[in-house]
Amino acid sequence: MARSASKGAVKDLGLAPEGVLRIEWAARDMPVLRLLRERFAREKPLQGLRVSGCLHVTTETANLALVLQAGGAQLALCASNPLSTQDSVAAALVAEYGIPTYAVKGSDTQTYYRHIHQALDHAPQVTLDDGADLVSTVHKERRDLLDGVIGGTEETTTGVVRLRSMARQGQLRYPILAVNEADTKHLFDNRYGTGQSTLDGITRATNVLWAGKVVVVVGYGWCGRGVALRARGMGAQVVIAEVDAVRALEAVMDGHRVMPLSEAAKLGDIFVTVTGNISALDRCHLEAMKDGAIVANSGHFNVEINVKALEEMAVSRRMVRPLVEEFSLKDGRRLYLLAEGRLVNLAAAEGHPPSVMDMSFANQALCVEHLVQHGRELDPAVYGVPREIDQQVANLKLRSMGIALDTLTEEQRRYLASWEVGT
Ligand code: ADE
Repeated sequence: MARSASKGAVKDLGLAPEGVLRIEWAARDMPVLRLLRERFAREKPLQGLRVSGCLHVTTETANLALVLQAGGAQLALCASNPLSTQDSVAAALVAEYGIPTYAVKGSDTQTYYRHIHQALDHAPQVTLDDGADLVSTVHKERRDLLDGVIGGTEETTTGVVRLRSMARQGQLRYPILAVNEADTKHLFDNRYGTGQSTLDGITRATNVLWAGKVVVVVGYGWCGRGVALRARGMGAQVVIAEVDAVRALEAVMDGHRVMPLSEAAKLGDIFVTVTGNISALDRCHLEAMKDGAIVANSGHFNVEINVKALEEMAVSRRMVRPLVEEFSLKDGRRLYLLAEGRLVNLAAAEGHPPSVMDMSFANQALCVEHLVQHGRELDPAVYGVPREIDQQVANLKLRSMGIALDTLTEEQRRYLASWEVGT
């Protein structure tokens, strides 16, 4: 089977020294990955394993790659979004760490998929995905590789939704561990990571003051909760639009205003979509917005804002700052679309900070090890992360923070295992 002999495709190898510094800076805040890297270097649990990863090529991902490499894996990486690549990191991965990486920030769709194919030329035994583009490409266009794959991991909510759909339709041919479903992933990465990095991206792109703004968050999943929490912390008035009754109720009791998006559309200064769904902000919402409204997406794919409708509504458009496009409408109103509707936290900022990716990527590394040990026993399906892995990540993270746990007494353990004692 043809293997990739190529070293990768990056913007400029000359950026590698900057990339190394940035990767090392992130490493300072990734203590769990550091421990895993030390163990993997000793034990080599992934010796000779071919791994293809389709992930946001960031300083944090580079640190995951180094853990897997320390464990003996041979890696090839490609980007999981055309706008999320940190070019200096991609350069460093190729030039300094010998990891073939196919990722250039601002790639067109054709190049994006060419890079996925190049990462697949590596003939992976394990796939790492963030959004399921790699897995879907293997299943649609590279079926010759399927027999060689032991299993895969999936990082994000959107990817897990797509993979479960594949599994339901009987299309999925190898087991996937849904890293997103680990508590030590979504409770922290989706909530605090997306919360902080989304505000960071919007701030870097626009230099807007949050205090006093009406911020409309579309979707109150873990990412929406995080964005709302952080926007409130910056002094914004937060409005939530949500389709699920329990989540809407939670948003109300968390202290936010909740209303249909058709009403919120008229009020918002800043809109953030985090639904995982298509056209969450649709033409009717865009038509109702105030002059000057800022529209951003922090969901995985660029489908959440109906950009085509915005283009059709506009009489003119221009870039007014990097990643900020102004659309002027017939009646003179101007709407500002950030990062083409792609995930603003990675396109306009650096994605989630290393401290939180430490846990997400510790789950990834331990899941790869789990697949090597047990993947061949698993049927093709989407599985949660084994509880022991989740617990291990939480324990290591707490230890790295110098925080100790309490323990149950023997009496308490017995009580919890019994039923006889009541009032
Ligand atoms: N997803 C969100 N933030 C990320 C980061 N910093 N690196 C990789 N994937 C991410």
